[in-house]
Amino acid sequence: MKVLLVLVALSVAIIGKETFEGHQVLRITGKDEFQHSLLKDMAEMEHLQLDVWMEPIDLSTPVDIRVPFTSLQTVKAFLETEDIPYSVMIMDLQVMLDEEKEQRLSAACATEPRTTDDYNYTNYHNGDEIYSFQDMLVAENPKLVSKIVIGQSYEGRPLNVLKFSTGGTNRRGIWINTGIHSREWITQASGTWFAKKIVTDYGHDAALTAILDNMDIFLEIVTNPDGYNYSHKTNRMWRKTRKPNPGSSCDGTDLNRNWDAGFGTAGSSGNPCDQTYRGPKAHSESEVKSIVDFVKSHGNLKAFIDIHSYSQRLMYPYGYTATPCNDQRELHDLARKAITGLASLYGTSFRYGSVMTTIYRASGISIDWSYNQGIKYSYTFELRDTGRYGFILPANQIIPTAKEAWLALMAIMEHTKDNTN
Ligand SMILES: *[C@@H]1O[C@H](CO)[C@@H](O)[C@H](O)[C@H]1NC(C)=O
Ligand SMILES: *[C@@H]1O[C@H](CO)[C@@H](O)[C@H](O)[C@H]1NC(C)=O
Ligand SMILES: [Zn+2]
Repeated sequence: MKVLLVLVALSVAIIGKETFEGHQVLRITGKDEFQHSLLKDMAEMEHLQLDVWMEPIDLSTPVDIRVPFTSLQTVKAFLETEDIPYSVMIMDLQVMLDEEKEQRLSAACATEPRTTDDYNYTNYHNGDEIYSFQDMLVAENPKLVSKIVIGQSYEGRPLNVLKFSTGGTNRRGIWINTGIHSREWITQASGTWFAKKIVTDYGHDAALTAILDNMDIFLEIVTNPDGYNYSHKTNRMWRKTRKPNPGSSCDGTDLNRNWDAGFGTAGSSGNPCDQTYRGPKAHSESEVKSIVDFVKSHGNLKAFIDIHSYSQRLMYPYGYTATPCNDQRELHDLARKAITGLASLYGTSFRYGSVMTTIYRASGISIDWSYNQGIKYSYTFELRDTGRYGFILPANQIIPTAKEAWLALMAIMEHTKDNTN
């Protein structure tokens, strides 16, 4: 027994994988402004090591917080003393992660896919696997798909973008990215499914064919490759990049607070230890700067779509100001149309509106930047679910999640085709 324990301890030390044994995710509903401010103060106490999964939008909505085992007693006692209602959303995060891993590994025993038809879309894949998927897709569809490397990550991984194009020179373009936040695994998995869907539907589905006969689609699936690698290898809950921060023991920048749009104002953090750390200056992160340079040099993008999870929302600018954007009415109507299409498949309901009014104040975000660049159809998604599994969405929900989101994407892409020139 003792030997076994030593062995276990040793292997944890070698593999260095962070465990989340006994961590709970609490859904906490502050009743008034005072309770909300208490919660905010609590979330900022560094020694508690809390991880906010979903922030409240307003006084009536809850906050989801991952609480490490060592802080549980303190946090629960505090909530009870202050009479703040909460429920346990996830009883033991590690149990859920073990299930996820077991599924991943049992499926991974199957032989490595040789074609994108063999690829298991009902399973989560690591960065290397998605990179080879991309290469296979390009090799199988050389006339339709190419791979552009727009830069490299801090740790030197390529930032790959799939370009779907039927020709022409610098046609109007649609940008889609997934996985800017690495732990949102459902997004990279959906992005992979979208890529396959595009090549399958071209020439068969009239609407998609019309889009690709007039426009190009650019899809970056692994937008934060270092974070994604780390989320597989070491810490499943990793959101940010992996770049060290000088003078701090905490690594990483939040790639969706690093854009030059209200950068540094309320709605992001200046503390490198926070999940929403914005970085030292706008576009300081190569993962962001590479997209910025690409978008600027392309010059003809008409839609910019940044896909996240979770909470089931579709949002348009702005996140850093309450001032409505100039195209609010049109973007709002199109969002309604898109989520209506989405809901038609399985009845999944999405909220929609501006980022500020639908989720929370967030500054330095991608779609505020793209919108201010003149890309009118700038949208951000939060895919499934609403918190039952949060970031650990079971793999059997990948295809349904991607399929329903695709209907919303199609609505946005068609509208973009018909209303730009
Ligand atoms: C795909 O992966 C899932 C695990 O998420 C597994 O249940 C299924 O059997 C796999 N399919 C194939 C064909 O390997
Ligand atoms: C992480 O990245 C390294 C180096 O690129 C690679 O060898 C390894 O397979 C990756 N691991 C995962 C789980 O993606
Ligand atoms: Zn996100």
